Parts: sequence; C-alpha cells; structure tokens
Amino acid sequence: MSLRFFLDKARESRLLTVVTDEIDPHLEMAQVISRLEGPPLLFERAKGYDCSVVASLCGARENVAVGLGVEVGQLLFTLAEAVAHPSVPPVVESGPCQEVVEEQVDLETLPILTHLPQDAGPYITAAVAVTKDSDHGRNVSFHRLLRLDHSHLVARLVEGRGTDMLLKKSPGDVEVAICIGNSLPVLLAAATTPSPDVDEFSIANALHPTTLVKCLTVDLEVPSDTEIVLEGHFTRATAPEGPFLDLTGTMDIVRQGPIIEVSCITRRHDTIYQALLPGGLEHKLLMGLPREPTIFAEVSKACCCVNVLLTPGAGTWLHGVVQIRKQDADDGRRAIEAAFRGHPSMKHVVVVDEDIDIYDPTEVEWAIATRFQADRDLMVLENQPSSSLDPSATHVPGEKSRTTKMGLDATIPWRKPNGEPRAPEEREQFRRIRYEA
Ligand SMILES: Cc1cc2nc3c(=O)[nH]c(=O)nc-3n(C[C@H](O)[C@H](O)[C@H](O)COP(=O)(O)O)c2cc1C
Repeated sequence: MSLRFFLDKARESRLLTVVTDEIDPHLEMAQVISRLEGPPLLFERAKGYDCSVVASLCGARENVAVGLGVEVGQLLFTLAEAVAHPSVPPVVESGPCQEVVEEQVDLETLPILTHLPQDAGPYITAAVAVTKDSDHGRNVSFHRLLRLDHSHLVARLVEGRGTDMLLKKSPGDVEVAICIGNSLPVLLAAATTPSPDVDEFSIANALHPTTLVKCLTVDLEVPSDTEIVLEGHFTRATAPEGPFLDLTGTMDIVRQGPIIEVSCITRRHDTIYQALLPGGLEHKLLMGLPREPTIFAEVSKACCCVNVLLTPGAGTWLHGVVQIRKQDADDGRRAIEAAFRGHPSMKHVVVVDEDIDIYDPTEVEWAIATRFQADRDLMVLENQPSSSLDPSATHVPGEKSRTTKMGLDATIPWRKPNGEPRAPEEREQFRRIRYEA
C-alpha cells in the first residue's frame, strides 16, 4: 500500500482535496495546509519545483481508517494487533523508489517547506529515518530535519530514544536512510515506540503487506514504494537545530543536533513530496494514535478497559480519556495509575463509564459535572516524569522534565459520601435520561 495507493483510495472516497493553484513551499503552503486541515491534501503545483506535494495524510482518524480499511473505532485494536504481532517484511530485488538515482545530491531541488518566519529554515517534517544497530537491528523513527545546504541536514533527536542511543554508543559516522513520501502503515509504525529489538517495518508489514529494497550506497533497507530516499550518514559534527514549532504549538528551544551528510538520492518518477504541518492535526494524531494501544494494554491489566482516546485539545499527547466497564469501586483509581504507566508523557486523564461517548468532549464534561467530586475522585501525583513538550513543566537541560499529574475518576461512584456501598439501582440514578427519537 503506497502513498499513491492511498491517494487513489482517498480520491475514490471523495476524501482528497486537490489544490490546483501554484503554491509556494516558502511560508505560503503551510498556511494553506493549516486552513484546509483534516482531509488529505494534494498540491499539484509547488512554485519553483517540478513535483507535487501531499499533506495531511493522517490529518483525521477517518483518513487513517480509510487507509487501513477499518472503522475509526477499530483503529486502536488494529494498531494493537500489529504491535503485538509484527511480521518481518520481505526484501525484494528492486522497487519504484529507485526509478531515478541522483549521485549529484542537491536537496534544494526538493520542495522542502519553510513553515513559519520564526523557523531556523526549511524543514523536512514527514521523513522517517532508518538506521541499523548491531545489538538491536533496524530502527525506524521520525526526526525533523533542518536543511543546511544542498547536501547537509541537521536532525532533532529526542534524548534516550533509539537513534539518539545509537549515535551515543557508535564511535564513528552512522549510516542512515531518510524516507519521504511513505505509506500510512509505515508512518504509523515509525511513530510507535516498541522495545528496541522490534523493527518498526515489521509493524508496518503487519498493518499491510510492505516490501523493502536494499539501498544503493548504504547497508540499509527501505520501503520499495517510498517516493524519495536520501541515503547518507550521521557525521560526528553538530549544528544548532531550531527554533521550530513543536507539537504543543509553542516554539521549541534551540539545541545542538547531529549533522547528516546525504550522499545519494533515489526517487520515483513523477515524485510526490510529503509535507507534515508541525503542531497540526496530523502531527498530533501520529504522535497520539500509537499511544492509545499502549494505554489500553496497561489499563486492561488493572481493570476492564473498553476504549482510550488522546484528546486533540492537548496535542493528542498530554490529555486522555479512558473508558472502563467498572467492576469494582476502585477501578477508576486503578485505571488512572495504569493510564500514566501506559503513556508516561500523559499529564491529565479522565476515566469514564461505558455510557459516555469518549469522542464527544461535552459528554466527558457531563460525566465530570455529574459523577465527580474533587475531594474523593481527584488524584494528584507530584514530581512525575514529564513530556519535554509541556512548556509549563520543569525543564533542566540533560535531565528528564518533571511535572505534576492529575487524574479524574468521573465514573459513577459506587460508594455513598459516608463510605457505604451504593446498591446497583442507586447507581442507575447517575445515568443520563435521553429523549429517544
Ligand atoms: C510527526 C512526528 C514527528 C516526530 N519528530 C521527532 C523528532 O523530530 N525527533 C525525535 O527524536 N522524535 C520525533 N518523533 C518521535 C519519534 O519518532 C518516536 O518517538 C519514535 O517512536 C522513536 O522511537 P525509537 O525509540 O524506536 O527510535 C516524532 C514523531 C512523530 C509522529
């Protein structure tokens, strides 16, 4: 299932928005993507470049569901199944991603967007980086890449993640293949954080058959239907990376990042470049979607978990709603503790019963308004590990950020204020009466 296969599906299901006007990747295109966010976008004419640009492939849960051929409500379980049962993708002789080979590397021939005037420069934001670790094997993950010149990029590596750890333990340069224009399964898989020994391409292959080809100049493999592959290596040199807009919609700080030297570009004919709006819906969804199965798995160990949603208001990252089938008076509290284990970057979580539609924020608010008492159902956890993305947390360079977490048990209280258990029929009084059509 290539990016082009998805575009055809999106066109068939009238999901695709095609922009025929000539749009400039320098500042203008990001504004248009921001205005048209949600459905997948195809820019037929990128000003100054001879290739088209797509964006918002994962701009809405519906897009991902159409891409994977499942219902929106099944996304969590489809991802959980693929993460639980990865399958090794076959390596084939050749693939469309090598139809054109450029040894004279010139990154300035690609429509790399400059998203905001405050940014450090043009950034590749939808690329997944493939590396190989002698101990753990292949790793695939997203890294934003600032273009420095016609053959150099500087990468943002989050401390302690796979690529950062590989560079830290490697004495010399490290080979890398950067894939731009990926299938949805590859995008979703690259956004997961499985244990180091799990190859994210095996998760992609479990989501949908994915074949790989060997790179031409580095000892790595990439999806055979990727639009553009930048082959090269992480040097030991660094450069300032940032400022740049991050997931929470605030400007991220400037850090030193490793420089990548690109030595060969391969691509498909009629190349389609992929853009991803920083801090946009797609960024949030790709960050959050892979975390919902890990929260679900952890809460399921503590009680009966029915569904999980990371909410868009907090970047589909910092806030969550967990739905349970309550079987014990303390299941709400257990679910809160487990949810934070399932997604350590989560800051606030609300636990609700099965009768609450977790996709409707007004229903979740109603549950808090009618089933929650702060002196009984509020859990505050101080000095907890935090996401580096929350500007209000405590950030000390080189240390894990710290925060205070909060959990709300907004399930029907099984005990009365005096501690006595409520009879099942008394609990029913908390149910919403609806005017059935
Ligand atoms: C859209 C998107 C952009 C991301 N950008 C970065 C980034 O610039 N740097 C980074 O280190 N991680 C970034 N990530 C997170 C990593 O890809 C993710 O944590 C990955 O799972 C790391 O896994 P690993 O530990 O297997 O390498 C991004 C994730 C998404 C979905």
